[in-house]
Amino acid sequence: MKVRKAIIPAAGLGTRFLPATKALPKEMLPIVDKPVIQFIVEEAKASGIEDILIVTGKNKRAIENHFDSNPELEQDLEKTGKSGLLKLTQEITDLGVNVYYTRQPYPAGLGDAVYRARSFVAGESFVIMLGDDFDLMKDKVPLTKQLINDYDKTHASTIAVMKVPHKEVSKYGVIAPDGNIAPDLYNVKKFVEKPAVDKAPSDLAIIGRYLLTPEIFDILEHQKPGRGGEFQLTDAIDTMNKTQRVFAHVFKGECFDVGNKEGYLETSIQYGLIHPETRDALRKYIKELGKKL
Ligand code: UTP
Repeated sequence: MKVRKAIIPAAGLGTRFLPATKALPKEMLPIVDKPVIQFIVEEAKASGIEDILIVTGKNKRAIENHFDSNPELEQDLEKTGKSGLLKLTQEITDLGVNVYYTRQPYPAGLGDAVYRARSFVAGESFVIMLGDDFDLMKDKVPLTKQLINDYDKTHASTIAVMKVPHKEVSKYGVIAPDGNIAPDLYNVKKFVEKPAVDKAPSDLAIIGRYLLTPEIFDILEHQKPGRGGEFQLTDAIDTMNKTQRVFAHVFKGECFDVGNKEGYLETSIQYGLIHPETRDALRKYIKELGKKL
């Protein structure tokens, strides 16, 4: 069966971006002129996803408003002849994918957020897409689509991983690889959430795209809290890997972590350098700045 459902967990507190995220959802932070969550939804659409469930929480209304119409704004843009902006605004509402919402009452961890999508998923294999990790889609095949392509061959759960600098492994879920079945597709011995740098089984870190079979929900249902007292998705995946194959897909493209300040700035610059309205001026500015640094 075709993978056609995606979950976007967006109920976290975004503490790494305070004070910006005190009232504004982290997922609404803009990369130049587009909120992070819109990039994620566009990647889902480009990957053939038809139904998206966004798991939100308190203070996250702006996400729903973003994908809704804004008649006052649209009328004004029409009246003032700003047809380009009008089209841009209407396209967000008229995405061609269904977007649903549910709320996570307490930010009890990613595993708990995902469990709230059980009835939405309704027994199908599905993808999870985190707003923290950002595929600028310079690659022809979006990261989510690459996982779906693997699944079409293996029918197994597949998690996206990427090589990160060794000193940074403690920020991620990390895999212990166990040989590969294709150039980019590895068997996994173990999935470990945020290991200490000297205990990490590899430098292959989980980035925010997961393709999972629905059996994950039976595991999440009975799971105990893990690291930080939160329900960790990585722990549930590690348990599932003991009864059915879970592969790791090594992503070789460019993926940015916008969940931290440095990564957010880097992503904004990278996107600014390909955005038609900003690329020339920004390139010039960076060159000038480089001489002074
Ligand atoms: P993070 O831990 O990166 O997000 O969770 P956060 O909690 O928003 O950020 P910081 O660490 O406080 O700065 C990864 C993803 O899982 C979602 C987050 O919204 C984010 O997209 N998440 C996390 C939930 O939906 N619910 C949770 O309880 C925890």
